[in-house]
Amino acid sequence: PICGDDAPSPTFPVARPRRLRYNPLVRELVRETHLSPRDLILPLFVRPGTGVRQEIGSMPGNYQLSTDTLVDEVGAARDLGITAFILFGIPEYKDATGSSALKDEGIVQKALRALRKAHGSDVLLMTDECFCEYTDHGHCGVLCDRGGVLDVDNDATLPLLADQCVSHARAGADVIAPSGMMDGMVRAIRAGLDGAGYTDVPILSYAAKYASGFYGPFRDAAESPPQFGDRNTYQMDPANGDEAIKEVAIDLAEGADMIMVKPALSYLDIIRRVKEKFRVPVAAYNVSGEFAMVKAAAAKGWIDERRVTLEILTSIRRAGADMVLTYHARDVAKWLK
Ligand code: PBG
Ligand code: ZN
Repeated sequence: PICGDDAPSPTFPVARPRRLRYNPLVRELVRETHLSPRDLILPLFVRPGTGVRQEIGSMPGNYQLSTDTLVDEVGAARDLGITAFILFGIPEYKDATGSSALKDEGIVQKALRALRKAHGSDVLLMTDECFCEYTDHGHCGVLCDRGGVLDVDNDATLPLLADQCVSHARAGADVIAPSGMMDGMVRAIRAGLDGAGYTDVPILSYAAKYASGFYGPFRDAAESPPQFGDRNTYQMDPANGDEAIKEVAIDLAEGADMIMVKPALSYLDIIRRVKEKFRVPVAAYNVSGEFAMVKAAAAKGWIDERRVTLEILTSIRRAGADMVLTYHARDVAKWLK
């Protein structure tokens, strides 16, 4: 039979959504969500040394880089159309307070200067602001004693966090992205930046960051796993949705310019709720474990990597994310070319 040749009958459907699916051009015309390398932010890991390009076992295609190889990596990504990056540092040394995070000669600070020198204003450089990579205990701030159990001291961490951010701004960071889930962090950072003259540097707050099992591969990459306990006293309980709204409201009131939800895939409902309620720029972090699952299943031939990756990133955008931090950025940019 010829498509569309059937005799019309009063029982046939009047509404025929398939009319808009018969042809790839009409499908493109009515597509609601688009994916572009411009929406993607590529996370990068920088460590001391020269000529370092150490692949992260659980994150194929992602590397620990030294500042020189980082400059090349960013150049290659730029050639693919990626213009935004977020930097994570693996420092020379770790101690109880994470003091290596505050040094103007620290690893992220050096990387920022090298990238700016090589790539000028062609790249948008974001920095993750936290202490877990810099503390010997691997927690996201300094510790205190809570009834015989060590915990992160919220208020003692804030001035250190502000100092880290100012040091990164001084080294050339374009966007400051605090990820430690400390109460009052956005206010403290905003005050620190403004006091140092960086009134125009925006804050992308990891406002709704969950205590998630999906960060596993990242903690290998950044060498930042907690040496005892977990992050449940500061990161959010995955069971909570209303609490994310509260966190976002607080961070916006404290001066956050953009909001992040993290991880992405198990939290698409949160992305949607935050976008609908606040109508501010929303970023979603497609985290290391989400990336690793796709890579592992694809390596086994169980899924079509390209198809699944594009579907995942499109779904995160459809949920309401304006931008997506993702380790797939290079692959996606190649596929979209
Ligand atoms: C640091 C930080 C983490 C991630 C981003 N910033 C790890 C953590 O909270 O343990 C995770 C990113 C990823 O898994 O890709 N606080
Ligand atoms: Zn941290």
